[in-house]
Amino acid sequence: MINVQFHDSPTEIDQQTLQLASKEAEKSFRKLLDKNVEGNEWLGWLDFLVDNSSEIDLSALQDTAKHLQSISDIVLCIGIGGSYLGTAATLTASSSRKENHQYPEIRFLGTHLGSKELKEVMDELSKKNPNGSKKRVSIIVISKSGSTMETGVVFRILRSWLKQHHPEGIQDRVVAITSHSSGSLRNLVDEAGYESFDVPSSIGGRFSVLSPVGLFPLAVAGIDVVSLLEGARQQANQIQQSPNNVLKLASLRKALMDQGFLIECLSTFDQECDGLIHWIQQLQGESEGKDGKGLFPAKAFYSRDLHSLGQWVQEGPRILFETMISVKTPSTDLIIPEDDQVDGFEDLANKPLSWINQSAKNGTIKAHTGGGVPIIEIEIQDTSEKCLGAFFAFYMVVVGVMGDMMGINTYNQPGVEAYKKEMLTILRG
Ligand code: PA5
Repeated sequence: MINVQFHDSPTEIDQQTLQLASKEAEKSFRKLLDKNVEGNEWLGWLDFLVDNSSEIDLSALQDTAKHLQSISDIVLCIGIGGSYLGTAATLTASSSRKENHQYPEIRFLGTHLGSKELKEVMDELSKKNPNGSKKRVSIIVISKSGSTMETGVVFRILRSWLKQHHPEGIQDRVVAITSHSSGSLRNLVDEAGYESFDVPSSIGGRFSVLSPVGLFPLAVAGIDVVSLLEGARQQANQIQQSPNNVLKLASLRKALMDQGFLIECLSTFDQECDGLIHWIQQLQGESEGKDGKGLFPAKAFYSRDLHSLGQWVQEGPRILFETMISVKTPSTDLIIPEDDQVDGFEDLANKPLSWINQSAKNGTIKAHTGGGVPIIEIEIQDTSEKCLGAFFAFYMVVVGVMGDMMGINTYNQPGVEAYKKEMLTILRG
């Protein structure tokens, strides 16, 4: 379901460095499976992938999801970082939001502290539907710690708006995903009697897409979460039998980093993959950027960003490599129409747009590698739930292996606390 290919640049990856990295990757992979890595109390995501006994009560989750679907036109999903990126990535990528059903629209909020978007959303949701009915709105709030400022403040604003908008009561319009036993959100939820699902304590935010953090909002959105999990578990099984692709990606990344390529530009030509590269950016950035080490995960959507960042990539300092993510079978395609007006694109009439996009991609690979930018290409078979689940599992294992190769604790994020501390001092003295 996932293929990894390397396009070297004329300056060439150092073979000795790569061989060394391959050996390290193998060792770290075994250590990860044996749970003999730093931060091993956070390996709940791995247990969950390789051990069927770590089950989530999917039927309760699906029942609540169905109820929320039945009473909502729009669901506001509040959360930041690992509490929303996997869900957003799945929704952007997915090819199978069933068309014969009406699923609620999902809006992600709480990812920043600006007012404009929030105000616009509240204004828009306060307006009636074209048939004169009131918009039915619900909230899913997701915070493992239950104390994140962005999530907490935006939840307060939207909760207050929801109370006015649904004066009949909001108790069954709010579902929380948070820690089982700690945090202010847990206290609030228990006191108000909102429905809730637990974030397992051994799973960190950025590794939580396959836990209720991702599964609940995805189930509400009409995603087949059973297939998503099945794909992830099949991939985990396959990796245990034959970890070649995981080892290849981890060792290429490590070797390139050791050779001085310090920026990894996560790029894609496929709109379906734009959310996935955002998810990878967070998974890698927060897991690997510490102790003075780590690749900087930049992000580019092509061909849009070829008209901006492309110049830097082609001719800037040679410290950047690309990891290009693509989908083999795009979810949709268009044919370039015939037209009697002359616009310089007559020769492309009747050709699929995907073919032009593919040509842009192949041309870019040629140009960038020729300019000294090594490219790792990762291709996903399609954007079905199964393939997306496999992709999440694959990348979490890669990052788990890479972190051990780098000698860091992959699962903490002490650097994120620094800004919070300063912000709280300014806010509260
Ligand atoms: O990966 C992580 O742990 C973080 O990105 C968190 O997901 C993010 O900070 C949100 O935290 P919380 O779920 O506690 O609100």
